[in-house]
Amino acid sequence: MELPEAVKTWSQFFHPAFMWILLGVSIYTLYLGIQVRKTRTADNSEEKKQRKPKRDKHYTFGSILLALLVIGNLGGMGVTYINNGKLFVGPHLLVGLSMLAVVTASVALVPFMERENNLARNAHITLNVVLLGLFSWQAITGTQILLKIIGSLTSSDAA
Ligand code: HEM
Ligand code: HEM
Repeated sequence: MELPEAVKTWSQFFHPAFMWILLGVSIYTLYLGIQVRKTRTADNSEEKKQRKPKRDKHYTFGSILLALLVIGNLGGMGVTYINNGKLFVGPHLLVGLSMLAVVTASVALVPFMERENNLARNAHITLNVVLLGLFSWQAITGTQILLKIIGSLTSSDAA
């Protein structure tokens, strides 16, 4: 089955837009994570009471982030395949897949963090800092790919 040309072309803009929004969600999740740590380590009991709601909110955003990262990554691969008949085994693909490995390891630590394991907490934080670093890199390489796609669309329109 062939997809209409317009659907193929426009589908290429969905993944970049979605991923930029998701980068914002990740930064917000980082902010919530910092709040969880602050309320957990606070000496004052008023602040400590905030721990559970902060943790729940971070957990909710984290779960959404996990699901959308996997879906967004698969979407990027799908759209690339539909438009090119192949994938490009380059940095954007490989770093994208590595991000899925990193985020999976990070969330697998949740049950251990719940048992107050500090090693799990520190590993969760380290993995997520790596995740955010890789995400920023994806934003740069992804935008470069996007500009190339726009360039080739405008040059083929002129022809
Ligand atoms: C941008 C990514 C993320 C960052 C930067 C981040 C950061 C943090 C930080 C700083 C803490 C506090 C640890 C402490 O109390 O010392 C934390 C705790 C926690 N994170 Fe994340 N996190 C991220 C993603 C996720 C995801 C994807 C999930 C799960 C789906 C998750 C679930 C949790 C939970 C449940 C806790 C509380 C653990 C406890 O019971 O103390 N986080 N996170
Ligand atoms: C703001 C961030 C991002 C932008 C602007 C962006 C942009 C793009 C663009 C323009 C494509 C090519 C689509 C096509 O050929 O039709 C692409 C492909 C892809 N993207 Fe992203 N992306 C971003 C973030 C991410 C992230 C965070 C991941 C993974 C977690 C990811 C995974 C992929 C994958 C696996 C492909 C297929 C690569 C290939 O086979 O060449 N992207 N992205």
